[in-house]
Amino acid sequence: MQNILVTGGAGFIGSNFVHYLLKAEPDVQIVNLDALTYAGSLENLPAAGCAKDLPDAEQYHFVHGDICNRELVEDLLRQYQIDTIVHFAAESHVDRSILGPAPFVQTNLVGTFTLLESARGVWGESGGFDGKRFHHVSTDEVFGSLTPEAPAFSETTPYDPRSPYSASKAGSDHLVRAYFHTYGLPVTLTNCSNNYGPYQFPEKLIPLMILNALRGEPLPVYGDGRQIRDWLYVEDHCEAIHLVLTKGKPGETYNVGGGNQPCNIDIVRQICAILDEFHPDGAPHERLITYVTDRPGHDRRYAMDITKIQSELGWTPRHDLTSGLRATIEWYLSHPEWVAAIAQQSGYNDWLEKNYAKRGGKR
Ligand code: NAD
Ligand code: DAU
Repeated sequence: MQNILVTGGAGFIGSNFVHYLLKAEPDVQIVNLDALTYAGSLENLPAAGCAKDLPDAEQYHFVHGDICNRELVEDLLRQYQIDTIVHFAAESHVDRSILGPAPFVQTNLVGTFTLLESARGVWGESGGFDGKRFHHVSTDEVFGSLTPEAPAFSETTPYDPRSPYSASKAGSDHLVRAYFHTYGLPVTLTNCSNNYGPYQFPEKLIPLMILNALRGEPLPVYGDGRQIRDWLYVEDHCEAIHLVLTKGKPGETYNVGGGNQPCNIDIVRQICAILDEFHPDGAPHERLITYVTDRPGHDRRYAMDITKIQSELGWTPRHDLTSGLRATIEWYLSHPEWVAAIAQQSGYNDWLEKNYAKRGGKR
């Protein structure tokens, strides 16, 4: 692993991964290709030369572009002699995929296909696949929804995606595996559960609840709030991806999860309690909880069996939900300039308005 192309490195997990990798592997060169959609921001990871905590321009390069642009992707693979691709770029929000699925098919399916074809072509023509790696970052949502008693998803659970988002991710996973079996492209995959932590765009549950509570806005809980996710602190996820890159076996998939499984309403209450402690001004924040119309086709429960990555690669999450939530809330409280910049540049308010009104709420 010498020259790494990170796609979607200006988004939530991708930017955390770039920060993580620069510390873990100080000698690598990183090229970050990102289209800077509403979800991506240089505030997460400013261009080389502008950030205090990023290395010089020799080691880190930001490229503003689309993963669906094959010519651009091939040029980058050749120009920077890329040997490793870590693919995060995606449309990632389920609610948006319900309102408008087209960009999900374009980026998640066509974009992944474009990267695979580019890697196959450029790596194939320049010495073959030895020492190369295509790592695909995917989701537990491809496995569908669990009943309360069902065992957690394992790597062999059959796919059963139920939203346009998860269907597009499932399709991309199948393509990645097909390139391993058909062409021998050295791929690895991770399917992970719900991430949370610094730099998460505030349309997702945890940052949305933190920021709405700080602004005295309603905390919109979908349906009965009893849905269950498997929460994973983003830094733990980055560590898992790094391990898979360095020790994982080509052709293999690894499930990554946090092992934390409270229901949504309990998490929202926990966020309120931590905010009451850290920011007593608006206490009790629980008074802002508002039940709103449920998400159509809302998956009830996800849970990940992480035995494989634990036993084969020795990874285990370092954060439980309480320590992760406290760290996350502290981060949002201590980065008001990031919150202000993201709110301005990304239409965050418009999105909240639209999504909330659709669910029968008024702000
Ligand atoms: P995000 O929405 O925060 O970031 C996505 C990034 O991809 C943004 O920077 C965006 O600008 C970029 N992007 C979008 N379309 C692009 C295109 N066509 N070309 C280039 N860049 C493009 O997403 P995230 O939460 O960081 O998720 C990263 C990956 O992890 C995704 O593949 C997602 O499916 C997967 N994942 C996320 C979670 C989670 O809880 N956030 C859980 C499981 C899996
Ligand atoms: O499971 C992994 C997936 O987790 C990733 O693949 C997706 O990219 C990521 O967005 C996330 O999907 P979810 O739909 O689970 O995340 P979200 O934060 O949107 O919602 C989490 C739960 O909280 C879900 O049950 C819906 C609920 N919810 C969400 C929001 C935004 C609410 O009750 N109110 C809200 O305002």
